Amino acid sequence: MTTQRVFSGVQPTGNLHLGNYLGAIVNFVKLQSSYECIYCVVDLHAITVPMSVWGGPDELRRCTREVTAAFIASGIDPKKNIIFNQSQVAGHAELTWVFNCVARLGWLNRMTQFKEKAGKDRENASVGLYDYPVLMAADILLYRATHVPVGEDQKQHLELARDIAQKFNNDFSESIAANKQPATYFPLPEPVITGPATRVMSLRDGAKKMSKSDASDYSRINLSDDADAIAQKIRKAKTDPEPLPSEEKGLEARPEADNLVGIFAALSGTPKADVLREFGGAQFSGFKSNLVDLAVAKLSPITTEMKRLSQDHAYVDSVLIDGGERANAIAEQTIKDVKDIVGFIRRK
Ligand code: TYM
Repeated sequence: MTTQRVFSGVQPTGNLHLGNYLGAIVNFVKLQSSYECIYCVVDLHAITVPMSVWGGPDELRRCTREVTAAFIASGIDPKKNIIFNQSQVAGHAELTWVFNCVARLGWLNRMTQFKEKAGKDRENASVGLYDYPVLMAADILLYRATHVPVGEDQKQHLELARDIAQKFNNDFSESIAANKQPATYFPLPEPVITGPATRVMSLRDGAKKMSKSDASDYSRINLSDDADAIAQKIRKAKTDPEPLPSEEKGLEARPEADNLVGIFAALSGTPKADVLREFGGAQFSGFKSNLVDLAVAKLSPITTEMKRLSQDHAYVDSVLIDGGERANAIAEQTIKDVKDIVGFIRRK
């Protein structure tokens, strides 16, 4: 039986926001009680966009430490789990090359996130940005992970990772058997996309995802925001003139209301239906005051701890280095197996 193993990653670019926290990190914390978990700060992915966007070496180091600090401040135990930055484990890049030769151009051409991120000037996008989903498949499969907690926006990338795993298992099936490995050498990783906030939307526009790259800081709540900033952003959040509905179907075609109710539900750990039972019929002004109190109560302790830890470079770096060593021990075995399966002669 394959070990049940969780892998997920977060990019160290720009500010972590409420979407990253509610869509992904909250689930990372929950899963640590039932699985062996590996959480990665994906610095190789960060440099796929122009340097003017990722900010250069100092900013990359700062963001890598900040994401690590956010993991720990949110409640991920770095001793029980593995927390590390991707570039420390050479296996991510090595396995990507093998997968580059398994994945098909047609598969990558369908990736919507590449189209969004490359924009109109596609010829000028980096080769790395195009290959981003293959690196992501290598991240997961290097640890032969079975479960991947992510937000809704990563679903297509996860499907690609499953396709790559399946094609590798098929293409090399004879060699896999000759090497006495299981026929499904790479498990097909399951996406774990759960909770009321798998797609947190912009506070300024309910049709747009909350994102690090939105020009307006009012579109998102950053994990580094203080109580005043959180309050201002929620009070200014776009809404419609109707009071809140009492049932979930009343949120259809009201994206901004749906988003705020989803955020409330996720922060309070209750279903949306319960939130509507409590606030149905209320005006947004009253609901927003409650949401401000809830968001500040939940996020402030994390923000404070994240900021404190981010300054403690010695501690954060020691977590990453220890995690890197433990990750590497698992990765090296996969790389050995893959070399034998593909037919690369290697040092014993
Ligand atoms: P990244 O760094 O963009 O986002 C980190 C996590 O946050 C989720 N997320 C959201 N969830 C809900 N609402 C939102 N508005 C929102 N915005 C972001 C993302 O879905 C993600 O789970 N490609 C990944 C990083 C990655 C990865 C991996 C993930 C690299 N290798 C292997 C899983 C497994 C990314 O860009 O995440």
